[in-house]
Amino acid sequence: MKKFWCSWIVVACALGTNPAEAAFPRPAVGNKAMVASAHGEATDAGIAVLRRGGNAVDAAVATAFAVSVTLPYSAGIGGGGFALVREGKSGDISALDFRERAPLAASRDMYLDDQGQVRPGASVDGYLSVGVPGTVSGLYALHKKHGRLPWKDVVEPAIRLAQDGFLVSELYAKFFAWRRELLMQHPASRKVFTRDGEHPYAAGELFIQRDLARTLRRIQKDPNDFYRGEIAQAIVADMEKNGGLVTAQDLLAYQPTWREAVCGPYRGYDVCSMPPPSAGGVHIVQILNLVEPTDLSALGWHHPDALHLLIESMRIAYADRATHLGDPAFTKVPVKELTSRAYADKRRAEIDMKKARPSTEVKAADEATLATLAKESHDTSHLTCADADGNVVSLTFTVNYGFGSGVVVPGTGILLNDEMDDFSAAPGVPNAYGLIGAEANAIAPAKIPLSSMSPTIVEKDGVFVFATGSPGGSTIITTSLQVSMHIIDYGMNAAEAVAAPRLHHQWTPDKVRLEALGFDASTIEELERRGHTVESTRGWGNASAVVRRADGSLEGAADPRGEGTARGY
Ligand code: DON
Repeated sequence: MKKFWCSWIVVACALGTNPAEAAFPRPAVGNKAMVASAHGEATDAGIAVLRRGGNAVDAAVATAFAVSVTLPYSAGIGGGGFALVREGKSGDISALDFRERAPLAASRDMYLDDQGQVRPGASVDGYLSVGVPGTVSGLYALHKKHGRLPWKDVVEPAIRLAQDGFLVSELYAKFFAWRRELLMQHPASRKVFTRDGEHPYAAGELFIQRDLARTLRRIQKDPNDFYRGEIAQAIVADMEKNGGLVTAQDLLAYQPTWREAVCGPYRGYDVCSMPPPSAGGVHIVQILNLVEPTDLSALGWHHPDALHLLIESMRIAYADRATHLGDPAFTKVPVKELTSRAYADKRRAEIDMKKARPSTEVKAADEATLATLAKESHDTSHLTCADADGNVVSLTFTVNYGFGSGVVVPGTGILLNDEMDDFSAAPGVPNAYGLIGAEANAIAPAKIPLSSMSPTIVEKDGVFVFATGSPGGSTIITTSLQVSMHIIDYGMNAAEAVAAPRLHHQWTPDKVRLEALGFDASTIEELERRGHTVESTRGWGNASAVVRRADGSLEGAADPRGEGTARGY
């Protein structure tokens, strides 16, 4: 398997996109509602549902099902995800976890060979990489609690897209080329993703998915069919035949979980994002705490001091991620401690503004520190939809790596995830995104692999201000963070905020990635002078954002690094 930092880099690389080309972009604007997603037809599906009287939740569910059809390489009903929901009337923000779980037959060392080495590709390609999918159950739970239109209406647009087809984009074709070898190994995948068993769909060709349309029709009638009906039987039969671990019992047991969002104050705003089993909320709040005392906007855009501080803060946060974050049902995650201001004060004192600290010298919070903090008191393919009643959904879902496990369940059109790679296969061994972990994220039956997905909603004085999120593996957290900072610290509009160049540091490997052409030579030189190892790469991530303007109108934007759109009315 080829190693890529993130599939989106490949995309941007192939298209030659660079953030500088997207300077000063304009957002979509609407007075009533806004949908921003990673695919134009999916955005249109959400808008159509809103125009029929649906709310932001109906739109999010319709958009997510449509994305499952049009962006099979990124997210789908064979995967899982998270949603942050703001309920307009009460202003309450809740978090829904519909992430995949490890099958009951999974075990800690399942990806190790006889010598104790991780078998390359085993957690990323094929049947053993598949976690129990949560998307259908999650979207149903979301709709049941907050939706307004009948369930059948929100599934319908996706069925049409699968049945009538959509035009394949260059981006889709690039992703297929990247995972071609894997997809061609599985006859059912080959059948779905090639025209004739041999030739993949090229850009501009119509891609029809009849099996998937039939499956979606079944889900439209009864979403439980995925977990206990004919769809479940098809998944289990395919697993049994090919040495996969997902059983009927796994599917029957699957339930999404409502959780409390992780929130923290930042410059008068309340920033809320996804709690564990995502690392996103904890580290976004943690990094914001670390940078808050510095007036970034006074320093000016991309001042080396601001970038240095941000990088050093990311380094600390990702060091904590590797040790302390995991499924809260299996490991105690010190959320309050890591997101506390007292902890940020302690760790900020370690930052030398003149010099980068090697990651080997930056450790995760130790037990003594956590114990002290615990005794103190503390305050505490992405899509974004908003409607006129103040309902907001920020939803990130995935099949993980490009085209997930590469496995399509015969006769169903369902492409299965390879989310098991988000576990730590062995202590200190990096996953596909270069992330390392230890005990907290070790594999166990029914455990949820640690995620970086960070659907985020931000308010000020109880009023919705903006929502954002992104794909991008390990870079999701820093992308959602920087889009948020672009809006709060630099006053950017939604389009500028998602387009502006980003950087990323994840503690290990010890290098800072900068989007090429987004940072000038003298800035890079200054960072290197302070001891940073700088790697300039093509753009990554595919964020979207919806911002509420002071006059109450909404602006929205999809990342120019991807092919998404925002539409409002
Ligand atoms: O949950 C996670 O953190 C990853 N499985 C997300 C994968 C992803 O963003 C793929 N896109 N580049």
